[in-house]
Amino acid sequence: MHSVKILSTVAETKEIIKQIKNEGRTIGFVPTMGFFHEGHLELMRRSIKECGETFVSIFVNPIQFGPNEDLSKYPRDLSRDSAMAEKTGVKYIFHPQAAEMYPEGFQTSVKAGALAEDFCGALRPGHFDGVCTVVAKLFNIITPDLAYFGMKDYQQLAVIEKMTEDLNMSVKIVKCETVREKDGLAMSSRNSYLTAGEREIAPAIKENIEFARNAVIEMAAKPGGTLLEKLIEGRKLDLIRRGFKSVDYFKIADAKTLKEIPDLDGLRRCSTIFIAAAAVLGKTRLIDNSVFDIKKIKGPRRNYQ
Ligand code: PAJ
Repeated sequence: MHSVKILSTVAETKEIIKQIKNEGRTIGFVPTMGFFHEGHLELMRRSIKECGETFVSIFVNPIQFGPNEDLSKYPRDLSRDSAMAEKTGVKYIFHPQAAEMYPEGFQTSVKAGALAEDFCGALRPGHFDGVCTVVAKLFNIITPDLAYFGMKDYQQLAVIEKMTEDLNMSVKIVKCETVREKDGLAMSSRNSYLTAGEREIAPAIKENIEFARNAVIEMAAKPGGTLLEKLIEGRKLDLIRRGFKSVDYFKIADAKTLKEIPDLDGLRRCSTIFIAAAAVLGKTRLIDNSVFDIKKIKGPRRNYQ
């Protein structure tokens, strides 16, 4: 069995990529910040299944963190991560130091557009520019045929897909479903920050998105219905009542444009809906979402779980 190879320089990585391309094999790529969970591993498994060789990157990208965010305490464990990746069959991990990615004199960046304005983009200024810049660099180093991203970070996925389209990048972006814990909590490296008490409360974010999803489906299917604002206010209040410290946003939007849907008419005109929330539990900020095609769901559903 091959053990996983940790590559720390751009030059060595490009050399290996060249050999693989010469052999005519396709390259799949899974960019990450490490501290793996099943969500990351699912992206790797899918890439291994669909591509000739899979590269995973582990890089806690400093330029996508704001000054008061968790860059220094972001969980890191390379030996645990490499063992987990190896079990899925991954052979190459690109793990550069910050100075390898951003040497002295680095000055160019990618600026995300309108898709990055609302939701997490509004609360984390510059975040998606940092994400786009590092992902563009990683794409140039790895030159993947396919790159795998999770729906958990749907806005990130949309912004990156738009970047590849706008900048004529040849990579195809593959969307992967959100992997959840048994109680519905979306897996995240940041879940490791939660205390035992907070961990019990955490699934409320998913439950409220699910509640809103079912309500929206029901409202779209019949005349009348409550105001969207009232539905949203109710969900925010429920999160606070159940122990969340604050709600950064709870929004219902068009999944294609990421523009908020103002009213029921807007809802009925829209086909793919994006319901997303970000809320703070103790010291941890959690995000989750649901993307669904309202026209494909027949009739009202009353199963509010
Ligand atoms: P990170 O948070 O480590 O996530 C790496 C990839 O795993 C992303 O595509 C993310 O959407 C996906 N992922 C995370 N949790 C998931 C879950 N529960 N189910 C399915 N997929 C999940 O996202 C980043 O890193 C960074 O911003 C990065 C793109 C690497 C740029 O620095």
